[in-house]
Amino acid sequence: MSFRTTAETAYVEDVSPGSGALPPRAWYASSDATSLSLNGRWRFRLSRTADAEDDSFAAEGYDAGDWAEVSVPGHWVLQGNGVLGSPIYTNHLYPFPVDPPRVPTENPTGDHLRIFDLPADWPDLAEGGAVLRFDGVESCARVWLNGTEIGEFKGSRLPHEFAVGSLLKTVDNVLAVRVHQWSAGSYLEDQDQWWLPGIFRDVTLLHRPAGAAADFFVHASYDHLSGTGTLRVDSDVPGRVTVPDLGIALATGESATVPVQPWSAEVPRLYAGELATEGERVPLRIGFRTVELSDGLIKVNGRRVLFKGVNRHEWHPERGRALDLDTMREDVLLMKRHNINAVRTSHYPPHPAFLDLCDEYGLWVIDECDLETHGFTEQGWRDNPVDDDRWTPALLDRASRMVERDKNHPSVVIWSLGNEAGTGRGLTAMAEWIHDRDTSRLVHYEGDIDCRDTDMYSRMYASHAEVERIGRHLDGGTRRRRELPFVLCEYAHAMGNGPGGLADYQRLFEAHERLQGAFVWEWIDHGIAHPELGYAYGGDFGEELHDGNFVCDGLLFPDRQPSPGLVEFKKVIEPVGIGGTPGDGTVRITNKQDFAGLSALSFSWSYEVEGEPVESGTLTVPELAPGESAEVKLPAPPAAAPTGEAHWTLRAVLAAETPWAPKGHIVAWGQVLASPRRVPSLAPTARPVSDAGVITLGPGTFDARTGALTAIGAVPVTAPRLDVWRATTDNDDGAAWQTDTRYGLLWRQLGLHRMRHRLDAVEAGEHALTVRTRVAPAAAEVGLSTVYRWTSDGDSLRLTVCTTPEGDWTVPLPRLGIRFGLSAADEVRWFGGGPGEAYADSRMASTVGRWQSTVDGMQTPYVRPQENGARIDVRWAELGGLRIEGDPEFLLTARRWTTEQLDAAAHRTDLTPDGTVWVNLDHGQHGIGSQSCGPGPLPQYHLRAEPAEFSFVFSPAD
Ligand code: GAL
Repeated sequence: MSFRTTAETAYVEDVSPGSGALPPRAWYASSDATSLSLNGRWRFRLSRTADAEDDSFAAEGYDAGDWAEVSVPGHWVLQGNGVLGSPIYTNHLYPFPVDPPRVPTENPTGDHLRIFDLPADWPDLAEGGAVLRFDGVESCARVWLNGTEIGEFKGSRLPHEFAVGSLLKTVDNVLAVRVHQWSAGSYLEDQDQWWLPGIFRDVTLLHRPAGAAADFFVHASYDHLSGTGTLRVDSDVPGRVTVPDLGIALATGESATVPVQPWSAEVPRLYAGELATEGERVPLRIGFRTVELSDGLIKVNGRRVLFKGVNRHEWHPERGRALDLDTMREDVLLMKRHNINAVRTSHYPPHPAFLDLCDEYGLWVIDECDLETHGFTEQGWRDNPVDDDRWTPALLDRASRMVERDKNHPSVVIWSLGNEAGTGRGLTAMAEWIHDRDTSRLVHYEGDIDCRDTDMYSRMYASHAEVERIGRHLDGGTRRRRELPFVLCEYAHAMGNGPGGLADYQRLFEAHERLQGAFVWEWIDHGIAHPELGYAYGGDFGEELHDGNFVCDGLLFPDRQPSPGLVEFKKVIEPVGIGGTPGDGTVRITNKQDFAGLSALSFSWSYEVEGEPVESGTLTVPELAPGESAEVKLPAPPAAAPTGEAHWTLRAVLAAETPWAPKGHIVAWGQVLASPRRVPSLAPTARPVSDAGVITLGPGTFDARTGALTAIGAVPVTAPRLDVWRATTDNDDGAAWQTDTRYGLLWRQLGLHRMRHRLDAVEAGEHALTVRTRVAPAAAEVGLSTVYRWTSDGDSLRLTVCTTPEGDWTVPLPRLGIRFGLSAADEVRWFGGGPGEAYADSRMASTVGRWQSTVDGMQTPYVRPQENGARIDVRWAELGGLRIEGDPEFLLTARRWTTEQLDAAAHRTDLTPDGTVWVNLDHGQHGIGSQSCGPGPLPQYHLRAEPAEFSFVFSPAD
């Protein structure tokens, strides 16, 4: 098979953005101009090369009856069960030889064909014109209508429009689109995501009446000193602008200043308006707000804002980046319900409807251009397109398509030039063009380390210590940079179990005003629904180069179920702080919002003993302006309360339904200890009795030779013994490029996953059975001298574990606790932290209470199986016919497979119950951190190998 760049296919490898398209303009839905969606089933033919077929398919009368069909919007590799090729996942490596702008001969090319009639209400063809709009095609398309070629374009996540009025017919219009997976544009689209060719956003035919609106720019600013907004709509086609609620009626180009309520992410006040030109009416949704850099801070409407953000890729586990409106709305609702106030549209402009939702529900948006050239890092950035003038027109085309499309969204407060594209003149040209075109917003680009082109200092994955230095203005760098605000455009890599350390970052953001917040990487796992694997990730389609499950690093699982990381994030970024000092009878309430008061919330208290609510009531909280706090008196503890460990649980809930959540939705909460826990005591009165190879002690039955517990009462158990291993998390393993210690690797090197248990003694004493052991890995001198001491009062059995590290331990332990097996267990009840999983540095969302679940329900479905599901601060738990009390509190994990099986699994479908429920009772676990891309757990969350003693009391459950 041969392929040469011929005149026919030259556009594929041409650095230019394309030809034939109309200039970019604002994206809007007309009130009265007719339009026709061309979404739906299209005829489809796949070729292996760009030049395999000629363009005869574009001619009228071509018979495509034997072609396959695909859905548009869609990616052909996700349709056709693998017959139409498959997805490829790479993080930053180009999956083709780097020889810009050349692309491989093997260049999957999809010919798409759609025949359509104009609807009955389509105006007479002689009246006005028509525009054909593509909202997103990856990566390069050539288009014909009724046999006439109308152009070709690149820029996958950007709109392209063509004037087609003169070509339209009433019936049997033939729209032919040839889409190439690889093109020169692919060099600019090296984002960390699946490579997914196709027409993945809407295709629409728009009637353009004579005198229709063309491009327009809504300028709606807010003066926080006077409380007025100023509106001016600049329009290519003159017309009238009306905003009935504000009594505004003026000509385009004129301005009006009137008192308004401003727009903010917290209070997204939109005013309905209209632009009426001679031939068209266009609805406007106007949000008045002013974004500025002032006093070294990003201010909106005169106030510093704090971004509590996420990076959002567009993702659906079946449809890839072809998102429907419901899915977009679900994303926005989930964000709002989890206290998120900002989104970076990593790493391309999203479907335009998403920005409408951000305007409507209230989210600050960093709108990012469709640009990444990360793969050039492999060659020291040589030949980087952003530093090569030949590519600059393509870069400017991308910048202008983003800005022109999205400029009328109040939610968009920052433009981002792109992601991980190195540095170069092309980026500077983009920044200059954007600054010039839109003076009302700021410019972001993380790669501009000296902030020559940008309005803020931005970084990704900086450690807590470095972020603190930046917050204190001790970070050095250029003078210009030192005077700019700081955002962490990516942090807290949410891959697998984690991220840990969110609360520690948030404390810094709240303490230093220069730190204007951060965006978690990332919103959703890009797992692809797969019949055998559950969710597929990199490598599952046989890619020759791939980056495995690095594509599954979101706060949502692929099916949009919130992961524990999202629940933790919601807690950490609560808009209201609720906290108190045990015993002083008050609670401190802080309004952490930037604009809103507390009137949307109502507050309540509940007094709980041993996790059971005893009494509850309303908490009266004074109105607090943003940033203000008050000490609020708690009622006297209920007189009739039983004794026991008691807590005040305080909640702030929505006082009324909002567009994004029902009345009563919990926004923030806090707990204050009212009466401390009394740890279980047990008088060791029973004696060990040895008979026929068996020792009994109270309800415990032991093997006399090994000292191994075999039953508690009638409940058979697989003997508890020390366990230090956990199925390493993505964050334990760390990213290959990390220079910091990656404990997951060191643990495995040391052999902590294959500890051996040497029995030294079984001593049946007066009131105790003592089993002495040494637990250690082969080939190493380190070990843990471990003594199990069993006592009983006749009814219960107490195990005290005493471990002493021996040798030179240079690594922390993954976990320290005991593991045992139960032959049957299903329901789990506990008093302690819940309802979800929590670890040392991801435990803010854990609420002390009475919880119940099942063994299956306690598993967290990380796409790549790994340690998960621990419940923290557990006082007691009941499962499998046993009650277990901890002294001190413990972490509880129960699963139907062993840690070793969990560790070996690549997908959840590899996990099958082995007939035993394995229970871990941990004295501690190592922190989680986010070293799969960022820093590991902070030192205070390391589980050091130190002498430790901890106890559990086992009783047959009632
Ligand atoms: C960043 C990058 C993201 C993603 C992340 C790791 O460097 O901007 O696109 O790759 O790392 O998941």
